[in-house]
Amino acid sequence: MAVDSFPAKARKISANIGAHYVDKARKLPWRSPPGSNLPDPYHVWLSEVMLQQTTVGAVKSYFEKFTRRWPTVQELARADEADVMAAWAGLGYYARARNLRKCAVHVTDILDGRFPQKESELLQLPGVGAYTAAAIAAIAFGERAVVVDANIERLVSRLFAIDTPLPRGKAEIRAAMDRITPKHGAGDFAQACMDIGATICTSKNPKCEICPVQEQCAAHALGNMEFFPVKPPKKTKPVRRARFFWVEQQGRILLATRPPKGMLGGMRALPDDGWAAGNDGHAKPPMAGKWQVHDNIVQHSFTHFSLEVDLAVYQDEKIATNKDDNIWWALDQIAEAGLPTLYAKAVRWKLKEKK
Ligand code: ADE
Repeated sequence: MAVDSFPAKARKISANIGAHYVDKARKLPWRSPPGSNLPDPYHVWLSEVMLQQTTVGAVKSYFEKFTRRWPTVQELARADEADVMAAWAGLGYYARARNLRKCAVHVTDILDGRFPQKESELLQLPGVGAYTAAAIAAIAFGERAVVVDANIERLVSRLFAIDTPLPRGKAEIRAAMDRITPKHGAGDFAQACMDIGATICTSKNPKCEICPVQEQCAAHALGNMEFFPVKPPKKTKPVRRARFFWVEQQGRILLATRPPKGMLGGMRALPDDGWAAGNDGHAKPPMAGKWQVHDNIVQHSFTHFSLEVDLAVYQDEKIATNKDDNIWWALDQIAEAGLPTLYAKAVRWKLKEKK
């Protein structure tokens, strides 16, 4: 491509994507319509933290639940940590929920309830990384920040046929996004790119026939859209084992609160063998007694490993005494316990087995 044709291409991409968004923006509960007033920074921050590694479809109901229960950042700051963790249950990546509360407290106590407006200042907040700082600065405050998430990475790598494998290719992709990001309306522009990435420029079978930047797309011209972005070779995940313990008496089961630090920290859970610390099914049960073990009842995938779970069920007639600070939880109210998905799957397995 001739060097001097580039600005014209960038301008055209920018204009076509902007025009497309005016007609086709997805209506999402944290957004304001294209070109209208900037949305509430609390809503933008909350949604962007929820959307890290999680789809729009999964986030919507959680966003609505959180904003109904905690309508302002001050109310979220005053919430009980256990309530926030339980409300987050099912969204995964629980460090986000802990940082969410920390950040709400910081904004409330130190910043007088106002989010900072600049990308560089947002970056200092707990749980706010490069992507989230750029997204909040652009969407909530209109700063011309360069926003790159996985959807935008795919769209931009195709528009410019960037074939440097990820993660090395990220710098080139960001530079290309910088070239097409307009001076004004960077937030709408970023969200327009996210929408195109999520609904048109999909990983498989992209819908190029309805894409507003088909004509400008280098990958489309080459006829190999799905080749981009070039991913590094997939590593196979190691498989680890865990054992959960089911102690049920008089319609209640024993639940534990996980240690505050580490995986699923601070969440309620079934007592387990300390799998997160690498015990892999070999630690002692929470109490002496007869146990029946069901092998491999649940599989769960984390970022760096897969987990296979055995369930040991307490078989003794005598009442189990609860030595630790575990809690007895009514089984017919288990949905309110706020169990992370991994443990909720094991509970579902056990309840189904009973029928
Ligand atoms: N993914 C991350 N942020 C988003 C947003 N604001 N709109 C749609 N998808 C997103």
